[in-house]
Amino acid sequence: MTDIRPLAAGNWKMNGLRASLGELEAIASAVRAGETGRAEVLICPPATLIAAAAQAGGGMAIGGQDCHAAASGAHTGDISAQMLRDAGATYVIVGHSERRADHGESDQMVRDKAEAALRAGLTAIVCVGETRDQRESGQTLAVVGSQIAGSLPHDATAATLVVAYEPVWAIGTGLTPTAADVAEVHAFIRHELIDLMPGEGEKVRILYGGSVKPANAVELMGVENVNGALVGGASLTAKDFLGIAGVYK
Ligand code: 13P
Repeated sequence: MTDIRPLAAGNWKMNGLRASLGELEAIASAVRAGETGRAEVLICPPATLIAAAAQAGGGMAIGGQDCHAAASGAHTGDISAQMLRDAGATYVIVGHSERRADHGESDQMVRDKAEAALRAGLTAIVCVGETRDQRESGQTLAVVGSQIAGSLPHDATAATLVVAYEPVWAIGTGLTPTAADVAEVHAFIRHELIDLMPGEGEKVRILYGGSVKPANAVELMGVENVNGALVGGASLTAKDFLGIAGVYK
């Protein structure tokens, strides 16, 4: 088994004002003090805070939550991967289910964004996951498989791609799949990655996301092929986030 450095990532979504940088500073100082052990730690604040977060967050990585597929141009309100990089980001989340649902993002659009991220020198975190209806009708692996086939960037490496499995029904609900269900999906994703990216697929980090909390982090992060977490609500306070990232100490 390849030794993969885990990634503890926080997605602040549309939360956070300048006053929230105190939480980010508290996370960064815990990272520097070794409280998150061997994990790489990443916070993806709203775009308005990226530059300030990159200044305040020494010792950890900062990422965006979305980017446009083009490098620049007449796209009012959008932000390019290059701009995120220029502001101090090294990662960007693409294809989060909230964007797939709220903004009608297709697999192809997500792939285009991920490829733009790679061109700009960012690592892309591509999100996949099934809805409750899809799980209940036994389509989980088919849905995740087609998202993987359709939305991963071409020519990625284990250094430039992270896959996040986020069951839509587990996001913000307090519900999580069983450890066995997580193991099944992550093993399937690993298999697909090895197939698509020979020599790299075994090293790509696969994160679990969806109601990760300090109380369930040890169990979920202990599942085979789970190489870290993508945390929403519990990443907004240093105390909760460190209760998750701290499992790697
Ligand atoms: P919650 O941790 O709030 O369920 O959100 C997960 C998520 O969507 C992270 O991207």
